[in-house]
Amino acid sequence: MWHSALLLGAFLLSGPVRGSDGSASTAITCFTRGLDLRKGTEDVLCPANCPLWQFYVFGDGVYASLSSVCGAAIHSGVITNTGGAVRVQTLPGQENYPAVNANGIQSQVLSRWASSFSVTGTQSTALEAVGRSVSTARPSTGKRPKKTLDKKAGNKDCKADIAFLIDGSYNIGQRRFNLQKNFVGKVAVMLGIGTEGPHVGVVQASEHPKIEFYLKNFTATKEVLFAIKELGFRGGNSNTGKALKYTAQKFFSLENGARKGIPKIIVVFLDGWPSDDLEEAGIVAREFGVNVFIVSVAKPTTEELGMVQDIGFVDKAVCRNNGFFSYQMPTWFGTTKYVKPLVQKLCSHEQMLCSKTCYNSVNIGFLIDGSSSIGESNFRLVLEFVSNVAKAFEISDIGSKVAAVQFTYDQRTEFGFTDFVTKDKVLSAIRGIHYMSGGTATGDAISFTTRNVFGPVKDGPNKNFLIVLTDGQSYDDVRGPAAAAQKAGITVFSVGVAWAPLDDLKDMASEPRESHTFFTREFTGLEQMVPDIIRGICKDFLDSKQ
Ligand SMILES: *[C@@H]1O[C@H](CO)[C@@H](O)[C@H](O)[C@H]1NC(C)=O
Repeated sequence: MWHSALLLGAFLLSGPVRGSDGSASTAITCFTRGLDLRKGTEDVLCPANCPLWQFYVFGDGVYASLSSVCGAAIHSGVITNTGGAVRVQTLPGQENYPAVNANGIQSQVLSRWASSFSVTGTQSTALEAVGRSVSTARPSTGKRPKKTLDKKAGNKDCKADIAFLIDGSYNIGQRRFNLQKNFVGKVAVMLGIGTEGPHVGVVQASEHPKIEFYLKNFTATKEVLFAIKELGFRGGNSNTGKALKYTAQKFFSLENGARKGIPKIIVVFLDGWPSDDLEEAGIVAREFGVNVFIVSVAKPTTEELGMVQDIGFVDKAVCRNNGFFSYQMPTWFGTTKYVKPLVQKLCSHEQMLCSKTCYNSVNIGFLIDGSSSIGESNFRLVLEFVSNVAKAFEISDIGSKVAAVQFTYDQRTEFGFTDFVTKDKVLSAIRGIHYMSGGTATGDAISFTTRNVFGPVKDGPNKNFLIVLTDGQSYDDVRGPAAAAQKAGITVFSVGVAWAPLDDLKDMASEPRESHTFFTREFTGLEQMVPDIIRGICKDFLDSKQ
């Protein structure tokens, strides 16, 4: 007792982890939601290194209470992903929580929710932030720290496999090409290349890409510097897109020295602008789980803008256009001060998010009950639910895909997985679905969908999900067809409304059945299930990767 009183006194004096009312911050997890906390004001402590891509955050500034608290705190800039204290204030529910991309987190839209919260710093967060900026400001003289590195092992705190995709086009020209080599050399030195640290290789982009050397060729800084010095200027158009795609596909094989479980990075150096398109290359890079950084130098002037195919080329190439993956230098002269901040980015492991995720690697088939009991207006609510789920995913020909089948006694494929491969087209196809009206044979419909809709994609790279939406009792057996679908590798979620019997819903759902079964009495309740369904899909996706 006496000891803890002393301890308490000490804490009160030093202050850091206490709120203004003297109550200690509660440690929470990355996934604690606003609604998991008690009402009013609470100080909590977020852990460091949360997996940013797994956060569910709805809104901006004011967050729906089902958002992750730490996610919202990072999104709003109150803390970074090194953790810290956060003050959470419960607020009333509202309408139209907006989607905003900030600080590495993409928040999502939500049209309505019963309660909200806001996040601010506590006194201690402010103190920590000051401490951080002081300590990072000190060694910024560009000198290496005194601590002697094991030269051969390299910088063990920066494990990364990096391809420098350098500009060898007529845009940069021979003279600036040499300045570029200087800069890349400085980056290589500061990275601390070594057997246990970062490995680098170089690809030159011009008319056609050329791999100059691979990751496995050199594991000592000196050798890399020598190889960079020897690089010859090729000249030609600035086909950066082509080179990026080629590098993503060819450079990071295990034979060529890529290491398992270590972030893959391509740093694209671009003088001016590319002659080709970067969008497809960016998608391919993401498909291969590569983090693309764009270092743009001497960006187009106002007079030159007319010659640039797509002024948004930087955002098209990076997997998150949150500013982290793009880097600008005004010229190739006086670039020394740009070396260190770039190296710090390349070594920030927790920020390397561009791997395969549940958002870009799933097929989602919706099986939509079109029976008479639903009625036209409720059918619209069902379609809205389908849209809202689909919207959360990154739909493209090499990303996630969506299909829809409507059923009564009969089945109608509204569109298959390969019919529409952009989000806009999928959403407009969903809007265009006409209500059939008729009986309910859910079992037959599941068999039909397994065979005709999932059949053609079953050997593809994506994980398959079927979402069965029904409002009532099926006239046929659902258990057998659902088991067959699951056996074919399809994870089944059942979503029941109104008169849908819970037993049937459970019988259709994948294991564990509780977390794959959803029910709402009213059609208006469908909307609130959207985040849970998305979370469920992401959880299954992650579990399947372990
Ligand atoms: C890199 O290694 C490969 C295979 O070991 C070799 O063929 C190639 O010549 C090496 N490149 C350089 C620049 O040393």
